Amino acid sequence: MIPRLLHPFAKPAKDRDDFRELVRAEGVRVWDSTGKEYIDGLGSLWYCQVGYGRAEIIEAVEKQMQELVYNLFDPWASPVSEAAAERIADLSPLDEARVFLCCSGSEAVDSAFKIARLTAQLREQPDRQIMLRRGRGYHGVNTAGTSLQGIAPNRENWGDLVPHVLEIDPDDIESAARVFAEHGDNIAGVICEPVQGAGGVHPPTDDYLRRLREMCTASGALLIFDEVICGFGRTGSWFGAQTFGVTPDLMTFAKGVTSGYQPVGGVIVSRAVCATLEADADFLFRHGFTYSGHPAGCAAALANIDIIEREGLVARADEIGERFAAGLAALAADGSLATYRGIGAVWAAQMPDGTEPAQTVAVRDAMLDAGVICRPIGTSLGFCPPLVIDDADIDLMLDVLATALA
Ligand SMILES: Cc1ncc(COP(=O)(O)O)c(C=O)c1O
Repeated sequence: MIPRLLHPFAKPAKDRDDFRELVRAEGVRVWDSTGKEYIDGLGSLWYCQVGYGRAEIIEAVEKQMQELVYNLFDPWASPVSEAAAERIADLSPLDEARVFLCCSGSEAVDSAFKIARLTAQLREQPDRQIMLRRGRGYHGVNTAGTSLQGIAPNRENWGDLVPHVLEIDPDDIESAARVFAEHGDNIAGVICEPVQGAGGVHPPTDDYLRRLREMCTASGALLIFDEVICGFGRTGSWFGAQTFGVTPDLMTFAKGVTSGYQPVGGVIVSRAVCATLEADADFLFRHGFTYSGHPAGCAAALANIDIIEREGLVARADEIGERFAAGLAALAADGSLATYRGIGAVWAAQMPDGTEPAQTVAVRDAMLDAGVICRPIGTSLGFCPPLVIDDADIDLMLDVLATALA
């Protein structure tokens, strides 16, 4: 039977019985409707930093919903939304930044895209419209994000996309240098994940991010870091920008900001861009969503950030990384894997050369049957566990991976 729900990123013709129905979650584990237990090696979809069933977040959301849920279009404000914006801005490397809020990573990306173009228009550079995307990049599925992503199949079949988008090589920074040399004066911005996630977990090659920063600064383009996966501790710092020591002009976030307890995303906007937006007291920022700054979402974000801070989860990401790297290195050494990639608590295991994507899915399915969730990406398997995972569960996941590969 075909499900009534048209599932995201799934084949519409897939039978309802072929989905695994999840009904409960606690800590780093989830259970399906047959009672089967899984360790969640993907933090749901790269987002659950603090684990499931955290009463503190649930109670904060409930309390906020009982007190007030209201929009923030002018003239309204909310103390919890202002507090969340301040907290997020203070954790970021951007001094005196402001935070625009929305409900997803895709909304965050499309907002950052519009802010980058808007900044050029307000700075009286109307021809500065080009946006650079990076091969393999994933930036969500809204119109700008679809146009900006470097995963070609995701751009197909939607008709015409946003114009003035050029692609740079994901690893060879000289390709960006060539595009800047030719189009520098017309580039509004570049969007780039510090560590590419959905494209297969690719940390940046040496100097890539720093050189991109230099090119943007020299040409007057904005550097946008899409921190939707990297943000909130995943790479061993609050943001990937800090892990790699490169400061962008705009930063998008979502996922880990609430660990998924509420749908929240946003854009951290640097002081220089804010100065442009604030310059004319009569200028109206004609962008915003009904649920921008939703108080219940902001309550979830604050409670989630409290937990990340109190439990030292940002530092824990690096410990998780050391254990993952050691386990994956052993599998690569014995030929079970071709290689592995990652940093902090986000990793990919690269299947041996000659493996087909379908075989990679089969390995994933075997792991699901053995009670471990990971994500097939082409011919690699992605891991992004909750930052509260303990060493025993990391070892268990690696054991299940080893058995499935064998
Ligand atoms: C880097 C990045 N940007 C944007 C998105 C889109 O986020 P969402 O699915 O919340 O719209 C994702 C989702 O995985 C992502 O990884």
